[in-house]
Amino acid sequence: MSRIVVTGANGKTGRVVVADLLEHGHEVVATDAVGPAGHLSIPELGVPLLVADLTEYGQAFEVLQGAEAVVHLANIPAPGMYTPATTFNRNTAMNANVFLAAQAAGLGRVVWSSSETTLGLPFDTPPRYAPVDEEHFPLPTTTYALSKVVGETLAREISGWSGIPFVGLRLSNVHVPADYAAVPGYWADPHARKWNLWGYVDARDVAQACRLALTATVRGATSYVIAAADTVMDRPSADLIREVFPGVPLTRELGEFETLLAIDRARDVLGYAPAHSWRDHVAP
Ligand SMILES: NC(=O)c1ccc[n+]([C@@H]2O[C@H](COP(=O)([O-])OP(=O)(O)OC[C@H]3O[C@@H](n4cnc5c(N)ncnc54)[C@H](O)[C@@H]3O)[C@@H](O)[C@H]2O)c1
Repeated sequence: MSRIVVTGANGKTGRVVVADLLEHGHEVVATDAVGPAGHLSIPELGVPLLVADLTEYGQAFEVLQGAEAVVHLANIPAPGMYTPATTFNRNTAMNANVFLAAQAAGLGRVVWSSSETTLGLPFDTPPRYAPVDEEHFPLPTTTYALSKVVGETLAREISGWSGIPFVGLRLSNVHVPADYAAVPGYWADPHARKWNLWGYVDARDVAQACRLALTATVRGATSYVIAAADTVMDRPSADLIREVFPGVPLTRELGEFETLLAIDRARDVLGYAPAHSWRDHVAP
């Protein structure tokens, strides 16, 4: 792959993804609705920033011209930031526009950020089983999660029409190293982060997943849970399930601190191997 458009490039995840792709020799077109104040580039990455609002199809079409692939990260990234309808409408417009523009521009691949929220978060209704995997879908409880479920439907249909492989990454809660100082604060109350089964993912591992997804041997539209290999907690994962979700069956023996958001499919198909943990930054 050479010329790759990254949308949401000025965001928390996008900056790390752009840095990783550049390090691995790709040519990156970085685009976002807003750049760092006063700049037409992302200074610390040394790349120009193309400002485009992807809720407009024409802008999505133009930014994809000449690209071989897109890593599409631009979205409102959580429920509660905007009104529910705005979150759904903007995310769905962005995803439909980028996917249709990818078809029109003849791209070779679309990699994009779906979300763990499609799997039943915040688990006010307990999961049917644990670890939760790709089959625990679709269970959206917010318009944000619904926008990702609709995005996955759009991906499946547009992939079928166009033949373009679409890789959806159901990202867990993205952490950068500065976020790890808060992790010990999660330990006292096992209910505090039951909303995503104590999951997280390091942004550098998201970048790895995006990069691998650009070249993995896949067809059609497929989706993968992308989480860290461990939880944010300092107590065993099986104990957490027994205490907080009694009656939820474990489908297999778990490693002591093993993630309860199963990453087996990403490991098997994409070659994903998370390399970062809060444990490298904060003493357990
Ligand atoms: N942060 C998380 O924990 C998390 C978890 C699961 C999935 N995701 C998904 O990962 C992606 C990146 O999330 P993030 O945490 O980096 O969010 P972020 O808000 O830091 O980055 C998203 C970027 O999208 C841009 N954007 C928003 N509206 C736009 C528009 N109309 N046109 C063009 N660009 C627009 C924003 O300016 C922003 O820079 C999103 O799709 C999000 O839904 C994030």
